[in-house]
Amino acid sequence: MSGFSLEWLRLRAPFDRAARDMGLARRFAGALRRPTDRPLRLVDLGTGTGANARMLAPVIGGDQDWHLIDDDAVLLGFCAAEQIAWAAREEWSIEKAGDSVLIHAGGARWRFAARRLDLRREPALALADAPDGLAFSVFADLVSAAWIDALAHALERRRVPLLSALAVDGRRQWQPVDATDGLLYAAFARHQQRDKGFGPPLAGAATVYLGARLAAAGYAVSTAPSDWRVGSEHRALLAAVIEAERRAASDVRPELAADFAQWAERRRAALDAGTLSLTIGHRDLLALPRDL
Ligand SMILES: C[S@@+](CC[C@H](N)C(=O)[O-])C[C@H]1O[C@@H](n2cnc3c(N)ncnc32)[C@H](O)[C@@H]1O
Repeated sequence: MSGFSLEWLRLRAPFDRAARDMGLARRFAGALRRPTDRPLRLVDLGTGTGANARMLAPVIGGDQDWHLIDDDAVLLGFCAAEQIAWAAREEWSIEKAGDSVLIHAGGARWRFAARRLDLRREPALALADAPDGLAFSVFADLVSAAWIDALAHALERRRVPLLSALAVDGRRQWQPVDATDGLLYAAFARHQQRDKGFGPPLAGAATVYLGARLAAAGYAVSTAPSDWRVGSEHRALLAAVIEAERRAASDVRPELAADFAQWAERRRAALDAGTLSLTIGHRDLLALPRDL
């Protein structure tokens, strides 16, 4: 299961929802300037299959046009099906309009259009559609300081509310503790710092850096924890994380692959015994233009 696979994004979505800071999401919604002559225009960067927009649309309310941006054609190809399945579960009516999905949710009308764009090239491209608000989730930790600098520069001119959800902050803790945890955490952290195409990723430092740059660009910044707390009943997720950490750590320190395999065995035994749990530290960030 890769970091961006459909399977992994589906598996993690309920944990992301449970972890997010709803206070910041509501303040983001409340700060959006609502045009009188058209729906709100919103952009979700690194959208995957649009989970962030699905989470935010009901919080924001009213008519919305979402531009869901990603460079992965396979994930974007699943966007419409995921929106349709979501709307069907909620018993909202659905229209397919060209390459976008239109959902009628009570009195509100939400259009979701998936758009393929490689955000490595220029973060300001994300603002080309003159959005009223910008959002991303599980994305800020992938990008570099230079990329955030360019985004902050663009947001200095196009002053709109921004909400970043679920960037890792470097904390991770399995329970019960294991003698190999220290080695494994260090190797895994090095793996997270590998370039994902945007330059050296900020990884656990992303929210602090993003906040500082947006504050310097004239934004009022608030952050809140959005940690995953995963109990032993969530077997599929824990099993997937054990394997992902084993693989990533072994990739960075192949000479320790046998130790990491034994670590994973012990973790799976604890999972079977119902004693395993995991906390992963995340942070959400809201940035509002100071003159709004
Ligand atoms: C961890 S996933 C998060 C997906 C989604 N935001 C969510 O919360 O489920 C990171 C996303 O960033 C996208 N991404 C990575 N590099 C990108 C790039 N250069 N341009 C656009 N999207 C990119 C990936 O394809 C993936 O969908």
